[in-house]
Amino acid sequence: MRMFSANALQATDKPGQYAELAEQVRGLLHGERDRIANAANFASLVYHALAEVNWAGFYFYDGHELVVGPFQGQPACIRIALGKGVCGTAAVTGESQVVHDVSAFAGHIACDSASQSEVVVPLFDGQRLVGVWDVDSPHIGRFDEADRAGMEKLAAIFMESIRET
Ligand code: SME
Repeated sequence: MRMFSANALQATDKPGQYAELAEQVRGLLHGERDRIANAANFASLVYHALAEVNWAGFYFYDGHELVVGPFQGQPACIRIALGKGVCGTAAVTGESQVVHDVSAFAGHIACDSASQSEVVVPLFDGQRLVGVWDVDSPHIGRFDEADRAGMEKLAAIFMESIRET
């Protein structure tokens, strides 16, 4: 079996870094469809590859609320109601959330007090909510539109990997 580690990214620009990461993610998830396995490896790869990130992981929708899934970082809040926090907002709006400063986001849920900025991508299988992909940083303004685009691309690769055929 081929082993993977988070190879240091060569590109210095964010689009280039996310393109490299997308290739690594594709390789890592290739040939496996188990959601927990792929989510765990995905979270580990992204967490270790990116600078200034203190939490990276999944919340999955259980039909009622969001429940924490595989992640890297400090232990996190377990359940988040739809519409609550950045994660619940991404889930109900269906739109990625880029939060420059979490203290300025009404209803932000502080799981790790170190988190200062955040990007959350909703995960849908067609119309069906699957969950969200959440990445936190200990620095204000860590994430911008390039991160939103990059994270959406990575999340799409994850969703494709677990899709029932
Ligand atoms: N800050 C998130 C909660 C999840 S943790 O950051 C891991 C939110 O407001 O939804």
